[in-house]
Amino acid sequence: MPAFTAQAPAKIILFGEHAVVYGRPAIAVPVTALQTRAIVRADPHASHGQVHLLAPAVQLDAWLDELEPNHPLRRVVELTAQELGAAYIPACQITIQSTIPVASGLGSGAAVSVAVIRALAAYLGRALPDETVSAIAYEVEKIHHGTPSGVDNTVIALRKAVFFARGQPIQPLRVGRPFLLLIADSGIPSPTALTVGEVRSAWQQNPTHYEALFDQIAAIVVQARSLIENGSSDHLGDLMNRNQTLLRELGVSSPELERLIHAALRAGALGAKLSGGGRGGNIIALVSEVNAPVVAQSLEEAGAKGVIRTTVQ
Ligand code: MEV
Repeated sequence: MPAFTAQAPAKIILFGEHAVVYGRPAIAVPVTALQTRAIVRADPHASHGQVHLLAPAVQLDAWLDELEPNHPLRRVVELTAQELGAAYIPACQITIQSTIPVASGLGSGAAVSVAVIRALAAYLGRALPDETVSAIAYEVEKIHHGTPSGVDNTVIALRKAVFFARGQPIQPLRVGRPFLLLIADSGIPSPTALTVGEVRSAWQQNPTHYEALFDQIAAIVVQARSLIENGSSDHLGDLMNRNQTLLRELGVSSPELERLIHAALRAGALGAKLSGGGRGGNIIALVSEVNAPVVAQSLEEAGAKGVIRTTVQ
């Protein structure tokens, strides 16, 4: 039985998380060391239109129509079929495997959606353009966390670094010179919906203060974009530290994330910040080839549950 397989990478936000929800720009890049894979196989034993979903990592083993109408996997399958004009889906099994930790700011939800959309489209005999894949995944992101900016589905569907601003055409980001980051996992799950909701309540109570913080973050994102495009990535560290100061002021850091950030800086990282929703999840640190091993060791000693190297290019 032929299998139709598609993969989608994780992502990190280099600059601009949270402010991006309020119309400011952000820079995000794919992380190919972590991947979600969706495999669709025809199921000759099932009756017509029956779709069997298997996601062992989250103990899911169910028929599509057994899931709540708003279940993200049910929605992604139905929206993809609708987009392709398929009145029904020939009986099949969809298996989802992933090395992207969930609720850790790495875009696991969007990666599952993108992988399933592409594998299912291939099974149904069509390929969808990146923009359509991203638009379907965005609809599912709304189920995951209410008011997503759209940055996660965009960078994961495009598999390229992006300068993203809500409602504006997608702008791929040219990286003048590749640079190296370490991604360190605090091991603390933190659903994005939670921190996004908390920032929203705080913003509602004091819009002037929060709008000013978002503007300061936006100015950092714009400076970072020109440094990245000009190949001056060595100077990004200072901007990462300043972005982290503002994220702390937004209230989305935590003692565990601060411990990892300080461990990275103490060991010689050029800059470090949380990435994604915050509170738990991952931090990123800008390093050179030379100091990467020392910084990685310092992060592990400070309690990181895993450290991944990624080259932004
Ligand atoms: C999540 O990866 C980034 C946030 O800015 C939320 C969003 O953009 O939807 C925290």
